[in-house]
Amino acid sequence: MNNSITNVLVTGASNGIGLDLTKKLLQEGAAVIAITRSGEIADFSHPRLTIIQGDISNEESIKIAANQVKELGIKLDCLVNNAGVGLDLGDEIPTAALMNATFATNTTGTVLFTEAFLEHVKDGGQIVFLSTAMALVRNIAPNAPAYRMSKAAINIYAVMLSQRLADKNIRVTPLHPGWVQTRMGGDTAPVTIEQSANGIYKAITENTHTGKFWNIELDAVEEF
Ligand SMILES: NC(=O)c1ccc[n+]([C@@H]2O[C@H](COP(=O)([O-])OP(=O)(O)OC[C@H]3O[C@@H](n4cnc5c(N)ncnc54)[C@H](OP(=O)(O)O)[C@@H]3O)[C@@H](O)[C@H]2O)c1
Repeated sequence: MNNSITNVLVTGASNGIGLDLTKKLLQEGAAVIAITRSGEIADFSHPRLTIIQGDISNEESIKIAANQVKELGIKLDCLVNNAGVGLDLGDEIPTAALMNATFATNTTGTVLFTEAFLEHVKDGGQIVFLSTAMALVRNIAPNAPAYRMSKAAINIYAVMLSQRLADKNIRVTPLHPGWVQTRMGGDTAPVTIEQSANGIYKAITENTHTGKFWNIELDAVEEF
């Protein structure tokens, strides 16, 4: 199957995986709405790229961004929830400050953003969440408590949403993009940003699953 993806929205498109995925989608002929905190992407523009300012940890900002998309009159084939933070990747002891800041973006923000944009996703479309294999139960280790828990919560939300949206035939996929050479993943990560963006592109254009965890590195479904 080749899912048609004419209009795609990507959050956190200023950097890392979100930026490369945006470029890949444009290369492949899609039109992209990129959500960035600054309202810009440094040194990059494209005739099919619309950049909208948005901080997904801020409800008012989400509302304004959703209204701007409404004004564009576009129905999305795919909503890519990519924006995320990894604030305690090297820590073992959870703190209130890092828990709150992590959940504000990775969980509450991602959920509220998705809920605000649901009406813009067309029937038969899809919603993707950049999750992590670090949140799968068999991979649990003591480090990154806020990060792992914030993404595990998103995995659960993704399954719930897949059930809610089944009658609209909207597929919902939490996915692992690999351990990727980005600001978050660091220089020693084994997967290049380009490899990850290509894998995500393949997943959103070919994936037929819903409510399942997809691992880009394995190119397969994994158990939660
Ligand atoms: N890299 C990995 O190995 C890896 C592995 C598994 C999962 N992931 C997931 O993949 C996604 C992308 O990660 P990455 O490695 O590309 O990280 P990154 O290079 O740090 O990029 C993160 C992006 O999210 C944006 N962002 C953060 N908080 C935001 C907010 N409140 N509102 C809007 N945008 C926000 C950042 O914007 P600014 O530029 O404004 O900061 C940036 O564009 C994340 O969800 C991450 O958890 C990454």
